[in-house]
Amino acid sequence: MNLKAKKLALRMLVHGVYIVGAGKGEDAIANGVTWLTQASFEPPLIMAAIRVDGRLHDAIQRTGAFSVNMVTRDQQDMVQTFFKPAETRGHTINGYAFEPGPITGSPIFPDAPAWFEVEVRHSFHGGDHTVFIAEVVEAGVRNPRATQLALHDTSWQYGG
Ligand SMILES: Cc1cc2nc3c(=O)[nH]c(=O)nc-3n(C[C@H](O)[C@H](O)[C@H](O)COP(=O)(O)O)c2cc1C
Repeated sequence: MNLKAKKLALRMLVHGVYIVGAGKGEDAIANGVTWLTQASFEPPLIMAAIRVDGRLHDAIQRTGAFSVNMVTRDQQDMVQTFFKPAETRGHTINGYAFEPGPITGSPIFPDAPAWFEVEVRHSFHGGDHTVFIAEVVEAGVRNPRATQLALHDTSWQYGG
């Protein structure tokens, strides 16, 4: 295989940037995630690829649920803090307030323009990320006019 072409071609995939959270209270954790997309209308499924060696992966496996918080174009500073190991203090993660999602208790950030929470239905352990297929069980929108951040709006890379 042409490894250079493989890397460049995979980096042309278009992704959003989201804050994915799992766990409750002091055990809540959240990370910045880009490998995530819808996978079915009915039932409403999404898929997310999560690093097997991360704490977020452990929290999703333990609780069987997670939250997806949208990120606007002017929230790059916020989401950047979630690419580092999460620090949970009281009702904040990395200094950002969160509240429990109404169905799963996974962390929802009031700063996010929209969010949804999901329950894991399947998982595929293929490589260094696990693909979780999960059903949307609740959602909320605070700012319907917000423009979601895309990875190509930033200087960050994840893929290849
Ligand atoms: C631009 C960017 C995109 C990322 N996308 C993902 C992703 O899709 N899935 C994932 O598991 N980790 C992703 N990460 C990595 C996690 O954000 C990072 O591993 C985590 O925040 C580190 O926490 P930990 O060391 O406590 O596990 C991404 C990182 C960056 C910089």
